[in-house]
Amino acid sequence: MSSALPAQQDKVIYDEADVPGYFLQDPLLKGDGHDVKDAEDWEKVRRPEIFKLFEDMVYGKAPPAPEKIHFKVKESSDEAYDGKAKRRQVAIQLTDDPDGPVLNLLIYLPKTDQPVPTFLALNFYGNASINNDPAVFLPTSWLRDNKEKGVENHKATEKLRGSSSSRWPVEMILDKGYGLATAYYGDIDPDFDDGFENGIHPFFSGGAKPKPSEWGSIAAWAWGMSRALDYLQQDKEVDGSKVISMGHSRLGKTALWAGATDSRFAAVISNNSGCGGAALSKRAFGETVKRINTNFPHWFCDNFTQYNDWEKALPVDQHELIALIAPRPCLVCSAEEDRWADPRGEFLSAKHASPVYEFLGVEGLKADEMPAVDQPVLSRLGYVIRAGGHDVKPIDWQRYMEFADAHVRGK
Ligand code: GCU
Repeated sequence: MSSALPAQQDKVIYDEADVPGYFLQDPLLKGDGHDVKDAEDWEKVRRPEIFKLFEDMVYGKAPPAPEKIHFKVKESSDEAYDGKAKRRQVAIQLTDDPDGPVLNLLIYLPKTDQPVPTFLALNFYGNASINNDPAVFLPTSWLRDNKEKGVENHKATEKLRGSSSSRWPVEMILDKGYGLATAYYGDIDPDFDDGFENGIHPFFSGGAKPKPSEWGSIAAWAWGMSRALDYLQQDKEVDGSKVISMGHSRLGKTALWAGATDSRFAAVISNNSGCGGAALSKRAFGETVKRINTNFPHWFCDNFTQYNDWEKALPVDQHELIALIAPRPCLVCSAEEDRWADPRGEFLSAKHASPVYEFLGVEGLKADEMPAVDQPVLSRLGYVIRAGGHDVKPIDWQRYMEFADAHVRGK
């Protein structure tokens, strides 16, 4: 017999009947066994308890922000999209060292004299992949090879331009009066298991590998989103109090953790974020803790591997991640065919975070049962399941903006 795991454990659970029984911690019960008394007790005692567990056991602790914000506006035009929009390209230094790593932020803003609410979302293939604007700089950081997308030998070619445009309906966003800021996640940390030799980590550890409770790549990407927010908050063209953290898939996990670690984000939207994102880990439905830690050993902190095949021992689950975002608006988005990401587990996280929203005196999730496909529940804590698969589509953005209109724009 080989030493492989029993077949049962290797089988992907795609049937509700196979979901193990599980116990979820009550986010409103403190570590000492007492109920959270009031908002202050939440803020000062219970929220930090939950936060620390996520930091130590799931994503890993990130270092503080650099002392000062250093940036250079590399390019600027008021004639983007046939004169409809402003475009800014800004190199943000990620450390205090001028020769250190840089995050290249691309910003489009509608033409108005008012500061605008803005979505901040990292992208998978570089800023130039989001549209066909020839003025956007091609990424220079390491890229995952993908001939179809125009990446060869880990470098961008001209073919990259617009290769992910179906996910980025920029004109629609601008027409609705929102700004869009995006940056390539690989500018912060390349998405492969390199022992943390490249990217941002070695600049903070003197080259040593992160300790078991220190930042993996998701925490690094989230930290990078905060550096983009540092810039956006001092940019007079952007309403820095209305920046929405948004992300898809692994970057949806990142958007949630960014919202949890940085309360300056006005709201959070996760799309198909799945395991380690909005989905409850203890359900073990679709992608499990073991699978994600095995396939992507650099995403989470090493302590998270303690829960491989042992989710029931997790001291937190993902409903508490959403609770960390409360009382700020949060929209969880699933896709019907994206079962790997466990749509029902994503719904249940929102549902079990809802009592914290209500406890804090704001609207929670206005659905006790999982809504039908394409019946968005756009309450302050919201949930949508769309028809189709793992992707971001214009209809998703329409819903994000409807949600932002209701809970961010006018507030
Ligand atoms: C894989 C991974 C998911 C992740 C997704 C993505 O499918 O298992 O956890 O969300 O990639 O980022 O596209």
